[in-house]
Amino acid sequence: MALAELPLPTPGPGQVLVRIEASVVNEMDVQVRDGGWPRQVKRFLRAGSVVTGFEFAGTVQSCGRRLRPGDRVAGYVHVLNGPRVHAEFACVAEADMARIPDDVPSADAAALVVMGLTAIEIVERLARRRPGRTALVIGAGGGVGVYALQLARHYGARVTAVCGEASADWIREQGAAEVRPREQGSPWRPGDAFDLVVDAPAASSFAEARPRMATGGLYVSTNPFADLWGFGLAALSRRRAGYLMMLTTDPHRLGRLFELHRQGALAPVIDSRFDLSQADAAFDRFAARGKRGRVILEMPQS
Ligand SMILES: NC(=O)c1ccc[n+]([C@@H]2O[C@H](COP(=O)([O-])OP(=O)(O)OC[C@H]3O[C@@H](n4cnc5c(N)ncnc54)[C@H](OP(=O)(O)O)[C@@H]3O)[C@@H](O)[C@H]2O)c1
Repeated sequence: MALAELPLPTPGPGQVLVRIEASVVNEMDVQVRDGGWPRQVKRFLRAGSVVTGFEFAGTVQSCGRRLRPGDRVAGYVHVLNGPRVHAEFACVAEADMARIPDDVPSADAAALVVMGLTAIEIVERLARRRPGRTALVIGAGGGVGVYALQLARHYGARVTAVCGEASADWIREQGAAEVRPREQGSPWRPGDAFDLVVDAPAASSFAEARPRMATGGLYVSTNPFADLWGFGLAALSRRRAGYLMMLTTDPHRLGRLFELHRQGALAPVIDSRFDLSQADAAFDRFAARGKRGRVILEMPQS
């Protein structure tokens, strides 16, 4: 991986030029660096280089239909086909971003976007804003897990969290009523009857969770492809499996994200911040164990 000077991109129809201030490292970025996603990589190689990153906050530089130069925005581009934003400038579709409230710093806004929207999808759409009395969040220290924990608690659930032992106190501060250290092996205990199970690392399966769920309970894995059998099983069960696939966004949903942030239901959680010149270290940090929230890449602003 190397820093490269590229031509300043020119906005196409429906796009605006954004000066990126903060971006985030995600699993797909690390997979691309490590040789994964060959089809996408080839497509970007044809354009001259492979840039990573799909989640950002920054300032609009050109006139769009809705946005004007100087507007502070955050959003994310199409995960498979969008432009990439680990860069100082990117041309992004206006539909992929929303204005940031004045009092929210760019790094905080970027830290909320994809995983905050994922938590909204899980708790508001799939669980219909009724996560129930009890929720289990596996991988509670990571990007998805910590926001799912916060939001399930906001809607009144007592949350049990699975995370590394070293993060236990911090996870209690995030609102978990009980912590089950990952190092102890199985996340399940006798008598479990969860209304909601969120499996952020896709470490379990619907079949495994089903006996530990309440009647009518919901199981959500971040990798539905890894547990397709679970959907068949759920069709025959009085417990449900929720399908989660976040590829694109829209300004309305991003607006909802910032509204929940304003209500105190979602607080940005930043594990670490790196300057663009330290991108390799940022990617390594993402891949390391024991993270607490999002890894931010900050772009030079001079
Ligand atoms: N389907 C969708 O629409 C969608 C949307 C958003 C994200 N995702 C996917 O969701 C996954 C999670 O994303 P993320 O940002 O939350 O990742 P992350 O920040 O790396 O967090 C993963 C968490 O899971 C924990 N973990 C890993 N293996 C575990 C295991 N066997 N048992 C218990 N905990 C375990 C990790 O703990 P340690 O730090 O101790 O290793 C970490 O806290 C990624 O694969 C991402 O691509 C999918």
